[in-house]
Amino acid sequence: MELPEFPFDSDSQLSRRQFVRAAVAAGGTAALSACLDTEDRESLDAPTGVSDPGTLPDRQHAWNDVLPVDSDGNVSRASHHVFLSLSLTGEPDSAGREQVETTLKTLERALEWGPDGVLFTLGYTPAYFDRFDGSLPDSVDLPDPEPITAITAESQVEIDDSDAMLHLASDDPAVVLAVEEALFGETDSLNGTAIDEGLTPVFERTSRRTGFVGAGLPADRQTGLDGIPEGEPVPEEAPFFMGFRSGFRESQATEDRVTIESGAFAGGSTQHFESMELDLEIWFDDNDHEQRVARMFSPEHAREESVGAVGEKLETETGAPAVTEEIHEHAREEGAVGHAQKLARARDDGQPVLLRRDVNTTDGDAAGLHFLSLQREMTEFTRVREAMLGEEFHQHGLGPRQPNGILQYIRLRRWGSYLLPPRSLRSLPQPSP
Ligand code: HEM
Repeated sequence: MELPEFPFDSDSQLSRRQFVRAAVAAGGTAALSACLDTEDRESLDAPTGVSDPGTLPDRQHAWNDVLPVDSDGNVSRASHHVFLSLSLTGEPDSAGREQVETTLKTLERALEWGPDGVLFTLGYTPAYFDRFDGSLPDSVDLPDPEPITAITAESQVEIDDSDAMLHLASDDPAVVLAVEEALFGETDSLNGTAIDEGLTPVFERTSRRTGFVGAGLPADRQTGLDGIPEGEPVPEEAPFFMGFRSGFRESQATEDRVTIESGAFAGGSTQHFESMELDLEIWFDDNDHEQRVARMFSPEHAREESVGAVGEKLETETGAPAVTEEIHEHAREEGAVGHAQKLARARDDGQPVLLRRDVNTTDGDAAGLHFLSLQREMTEFTRVREAMLGEEFHQHGLGPRQPNGILQYIRLRRWGSYLLPPRSLRSLPQPSP
């Protein structure tokens, strides 16, 4: 991606927001210097981390305690994200293990664990574990990633078969860039802390995906993007491209619910990560707000006007569980079912099983979403994802190209699954540690 020359409009807050998002998407030292507003890559001024990384939570995915809650009480997401797919450069031996662990501990000393500093997870694919003689214990449910057939019939999907994924998140775009440069670039210092070769002796980056989330960010980026119609339809207050808030407290699993409870990897989790492009031309051009609410939430939400422009009327819950019984009636009589309505039926004993941490993306200059979810077992994810396909509504004439939730507007591109080991086992784990 071409990086706009900096500063292209230094007086404008909007331009600055657009600029930093483009810088994260571009990556590299030039983007970092531009974000820091200086050539001096040492000038990152972020809160420093802990002197003893052993004091950090054993769960790599323990982010909620340090993320702020919004005025309704929902956990917010960090604004800027980089997802790096990594392949091993050699065998996963003890020297490599030590290199990774030393580097990650240095990162934890250099930057505060939180959105002002950095949050990160390092996860491993089934392909990574395949090279070992032993297999993962039964307490870890991580089958080979195979997209559900009904999805591959609709889209061309690439499987993530690299070894690992590093997810970096921060509210400060310069931080994610600086961390990436320190781990894989030429810099030898991060936020004033010396860092040696970083992860380069062990891993190479095989792909780089980026994301952002928060009110105003999608609206800033909607002009001239593939998949978005003219006329700037994404509301300024919307945190996501499709125009609604997401991640209400009552529709998210807790971190406890997604944590592996027993065995060698207790304290870990499994992560699903899929990338999709969005067809927002038909989403915005063919539907009015009421129809969009019906497809995203439910026809009843649309009738009752219970959502508001971007979901501001919903405080910590969508109200979707209250309309699950009527779903077949909605399909038959109103010719639509809602995404949230369908998915609320896949709860376990009334409780959500996925902790979603999805973000918008403009990778490839197309409007998209990187959908990330954590769950205790990958099989739970598959069950919920199948519920999203809503095949039972085909009998009412709602195929994947009809108002069967939001299926019609999504093109799946990549699909992967990972084990997020507990922090103590995050560096080149063996299947039976
Ligand atoms: C473009 C893609 C997507 C968009 C824009 C989207 C948006 C939303 C929105 C607005 C809600 C209701 C508000 C809330 O989050 O509480 C929701 C709920 C939900 N979505 Fe999605 N979603 C997308 C894809 C997915 C995918 C791929 C899955 C995977 C299975 C998924 C699973 C869920 C679940 C489990 C819920 C909560 C249901 C409950 O209340 O129990 N979503 N989504």
